[in-house]
Amino acid sequence: MTSSSPDPSTCVLDAFRTSIAERVAAALPPLSVDHVYSGVDYGKKGVDFTIALPRFKLGKVEDVAAKVIAQFKPDEYIESVTPDKAFLHFQCKSTTLIREILTQVHALSHLAPSPCYGSNTAGKGKKAIIEYSSPNIAKSFHVGHLRSTIIGGFLANLYKACGWEVISMNYLGDWGTQFGLIATGFEKYGSEEELERDPIKHLFDVYVKVNKDADIDPEVKADAARWFKRMEDGDESALKNWRVWRELSVKQYTKEYERLNIEFDVYTGESMVGKDWQDKALTRLEEMGLIEDVDGAKIVNLEQWKMGKAVLRKRDGTSIYLTRDIGGAIERYEKYKFDKMIYVVSSQQDLHLAQFFKILELMQFPWAGSLQHINYGLVQGMSTRKGTVVFLDQIIKEAAQVMHEQMQKNDEKYKAVEDPETVSREIGITGVKIQDMSAKRINNYTFNWDRMKSFEGDTGPYLQYAHVRLSSISRKNPHLLPLPPPSQIDVSSLASTSHARDIVFLLGTYPDVVKVALKTHEPSGVVTFAFRLSHAISSAWEVLVVKGEEDLEKARARLWMYECARDVLGSAMRLLSIRPLTRM
Ligand code: ARG
Repeated sequence: MTSSSPDPSTCVLDAFRTSIAERVAAALPPLSVDHVYSGVDYGKKGVDFTIALPRFKLGKVEDVAAKVIAQFKPDEYIESVTPDKAFLHFQCKSTTLIREILTQVHALSHLAPSPCYGSNTAGKGKKAIIEYSSPNIAKSFHVGHLRSTIIGGFLANLYKACGWEVISMNYLGDWGTQFGLIATGFEKYGSEEELERDPIKHLFDVYVKVNKDADIDPEVKADAARWFKRMEDGDESALKNWRVWRELSVKQYTKEYERLNIEFDVYTGESMVGKDWQDKALTRLEEMGLIEDVDGAKIVNLEQWKMGKAVLRKRDGTSIYLTRDIGGAIERYEKYKFDKMIYVVSSQQDLHLAQFFKILELMQFPWAGSLQHINYGLVQGMSTRKGTVVFLDQIIKEAAQVMHEQMQKNDEKYKAVEDPETVSREIGITGVKIQDMSAKRINNYTFNWDRMKSFEGDTGPYLQYAHVRLSSISRKNPHLLPLPPPSQIDVSSLASTSHARDIVFLLGTYPDVVKVALKTHEPSGVVTFAFRLSHAISSAWEVLVVKGEEDLEKARARLWMYECARDVLGSAMRLLSIRPLTRM
């Protein structure tokens, strides 16, 4: 349940909850409307809203219930109240409910510039940095990075939908001894041509080869370390190639993210973190007596917080991952003055993030508490038919291909698809994303291509299909268009079927789904909502037909409802970073 204050201008169900709260408060002094409001919950199946009476601590629940019931008068908003043990169940008046919800969905979905039913202004005036994806150049883009990309993309959309100013940030692993290795290896294995053609793959290949050399020959490692030291010291000749590699990799990644409908405002990286803040952090921690010197390496002791010991600086003076994160956070605060900064990183790095946040707290930065780690579990089994996934474009290609083959199995339907390449890619990507976001973030899951491509069950293709079908109704019923303005559509025929009422009530809950997601940082609630809505719609198709309905008044009301459902389903999908299809 949402505990935020009511705002019927963005969530019309708040008006119904307020109406319930007003009458209960009036019957039960000294309770305030606000107090009761916070106790109006969604009811179980078949019940609109429920209040658990014991929470008010007013004595015997039977007596309390009797008072409310004695004073109850049905009106345009609330039709009935029913006692049920310690609960009171309330039903909304169907015609009002349906009219009000559809009118709001309609009005807010057609607002320029962007559809905004479901959004709210909770974050107005506040700024959030959301850091996600953050792959390592020259290493593989593993499924962990894919999860970060998917969940992070969702969170960026979610914060925007809740009124925050969002800065999407990609913090590339573009620094570290591995670049010394690649530089060493590039002299032997590098090819400008291949670099130009597929920089991400080529750098990875070079890295793999030179790593093998380093295993046999310690000189290679020493060379690499010296090279990286020169890079850290700002030696331009050592940095020249690295700059090109980074730029080409970012260019290629940008294109691949575009396919995924993901965009970054800022590409930063470990290389961009200034030295001074890293040094200052070290000095500050030394003054606090938290640094131990072990053979010239600097180690911070966090054992009293059960976070072990962490290296902040190596013996040769070069920086490491943790130190860069500390310096980077300080710099970001200086630059952006964020109200919140989120790191979307796998739970494998829980300890790293905990250490890093702890150190900022010890350094007494007042904003240290506004950093948040959003973690997630492992993905197993995502290999392509050619083998282990190493690159992002392999995942995208495989998803598109698997989907394309699936669609070709139905020859008749396949021939009707205008642009099968694009459609199969979009559905494939939807399948990957939905499988990723269906369960709680922290769960590990096993990726399954068969499930991903299926049009049945709670899958991405099913969702796209539901949206396409909803989108086709207007096209198939031009005789009903344009629809009259909402006030002239008679919804009474919808009020008499539970199918329509269920669909519309669900639409009414969408603004709450968004608010809850902001609290939990879980995409799964939005996914569940999208499936519940799609199921409600698919069970209504046969009962609430549009084409063939002779009573045009009825047909128009149904069409209006389906259009509103399409808009809300589309919004939920976009929130999940999915591009809803209108044809397939
Ligand atoms: N590049 C890192 C990796 O692949 C992830 C970066 C996470 N973000 C951070 N600020 N440490 O493991």
